[in-house]
Amino acid sequence: VIRPLFAANWKMNKQVSEVRAYVQGFIQAALPLEKCEVVVAPPSTHLTTLGSEAQNRVFQIAGQNCGPAASGAFTGEIAPGMLKELGADWVLLGHSERRHVFHEDEALIGKRLSAALSAGLKVIFCVGETLSERKQGTTRAVIEKQLGNLKLAQKGKDLVVAYEPVWAIGTGEVATPEQAEEAHRWIAEWCGAELGQTPRILYGGSVKPENSAELMAQRHVDGLLVGGASLEAESFAAIIRHGVRGWESKVSLMKEVLK
Ligand code: PGA
Repeated sequence: VIRPLFAANWKMNKQVSEVRAYVQGFIQAALPLEKCEVVVAPPSTHLTTLGSEAQNRVFQIAGQNCGPAASGAFTGEIAPGMLKELGADWVLLGHSERRHVFHEDEALIGKRLSAALSAGLKVIFCVGETLSERKQGTTRAVIEKQLGNLKLAQKGKDLVVAYEPVWAIGTGEVATPEQAEEAHRWIAEWCGAELGQTPRILYGGSVKPENSAELMAQRHVDGLLVGGASLEAESFAAIIRHGVRGWESKVSLMKEVLK
């Protein structure tokens, strides 16, 4: 049985001094953590603090990106092994802000992916179309091109895909459950055909406590990647609580159907 995964992407937010209160707030929320996996991706400078605060294993920690090699002349980059050294088990790669704000191309993202997997990091690999690509009807082709790099990954078990339509990120405009499900099904089909297995597929883009249950109730939605609404522990916890509920209702429905 796969467990749903809930990931928080803090982006370039928070002071180190806010980290402890966040972890305390998260613990107080008393979530059913045996039923899901939780990952928090803080700015790299907060990894040590967050890691030691979260040591009671309420959640795992992730880098928001990693360098394209094990070491070397890459000013401003952090090697995947360095993230591991600070306690990160995971790394986000190909996030839409990396692709569109910092213009990372497929070749660079591929190098980052190879380096991350060689270092033994688990990867949350982000894909998603822009609004104009969706309007042009090229969503599936765009996603499949972005997924192409995953063929580099032999250790498929360490991979998670996050579908994040660019037009839904930080805009308050969430994809409808049907739009999310359609794209997730495409991703599942592509991975099945090209990789011989289907990783967990997270939805991201304006996820809130009010929409997490409905998104998680979709057949191919295995988790959520949350930006803005993950910055407060209470709100991220509410997303997880409702999300687990949505997930469980789907699972029991599927069991009924399979009877
Ligand atoms: P958002 O960001 O939840 O603020 O839309 C999601 C993301 O960028 O991962």
